[in-house]
Amino acid sequence: MTTAPPPMSLLAELTHRCPLQCPYCSNPLKLDVRAGELETAEWKRVLEEAAAMGVLQVHFSGGEPMARPDLPELVAHAVGLGLYTNLITSGVLINATSLKALADAGLDHVQLSFQDADAQQAERIGGMAGAQAKKLETARLIVEDGLPLTLNFVIHRQNAERVPAMLAMADQLGARRVEIAHTQYYGWGLLNRDALLPSRAQLEETERAVTAARAHFGTRIAIDFVTPDYYADQPKPCMGGWGQRFINISPTGKVLPCHAAESIPGLTFPTVREEGLAAIWQDSPLFTLYRGTDWMPDPCRSCAFKEDDWGGCRCQALALAGDAGATDPVCHRAPGHGLIEKAISERPAVPPAFRYRRYGNAQNG
Ligand code: FES
Repeated sequence: MTTAPPPMSLLAELTHRCPLQCPYCSNPLKLDVRAGELETAEWKRVLEEAAAMGVLQVHFSGGEPMARPDLPELVAHAVGLGLYTNLITSGVLINATSLKALADAGLDHVQLSFQDADAQQAERIGGMAGAQAKKLETARLIVEDGLPLTLNFVIHRQNAERVPAMLAMADQLGARRVEIAHTQYYGWGLLNRDALLPSRAQLEETERAVTAARAHFGTRIAIDFVTPDYYADQPKPCMGGWGQRFINISPTGKVLPCHAAESIPGLTFPTVREEGLAAIWQDSPLFTLYRGTDWMPDPCRSCAFKEDDWGGCRCQALALAGDAGATDPVCHRAPGHGLIEKAISERPAVPPAFRYRRYGNAQNG
């Protein structure tokens, strides 16, 4: 058996708790409850194992990772191990004291999400009154503390027209990087697809806005643009290929190749409470299942791009084609590509109401 290179990044999903209710939430449909979350000592051991196996970066995420009071302790531990540390946050639970604790712990970078540039729309989309003012204050504190700031905007049909305002806002707040990321449609995003999927004209308008902003800002702000899968000809190399670059740890310690892997039925999910991280990465049936190209059906198997896109997204193949081992229907050569065309052609003229993501509601078990 060949040895897989170590993952570059570890996503530490510290908790699924979150005060926001975004209709495109990327967490699983069934959320982990607080009582089952890994303890501080368990997370520290995970970080030690990650550093020992060659992981370079740790992204502290959630849910909202600031819901964990031990976050500064975990950041300090990761920094002590030589890991690059990034906080992925909604910003609504941060104040000057908690941010200073993170900066003192050695945090390297903050990625702060906004739902829109318009406060009223942002709070409607995120389902939380007062969130925008909190986020703006958090952005100010981050820059004041000298931490590099990236803003993340998730784009869809109900905010696409305000991409220019989002980019101007990033400049005003002193961000060094902006992610203009179109929604991905699995999990909760798939449930809300009709309310979120933009038209092709809207997509093109966002592309033009980003091109103009790149010319305007030059090297002052880096702008990342993520195309919506449904309008791409080729699938994305989801997670950089299954079990090749990223490793996710769920709040309860399950070790996953991606945040949505638990949606795939019939799999066994290893846990850091029972096995070592390196052994799981190298040898577990879960991580070897779709790693590389041996698992691929045609047309992936004979495709010249199979080591560029790695067959696309397994979770999207399951959600749309009913088979995680199928070619991602996003690919124009996939047998299931008609499913994407159908979703676009049947997109309603008026978006339906959002189905909000609420921690603790019936779907969360
Ligand atoms: Fe699971 Fe893409 S989200 S492989």
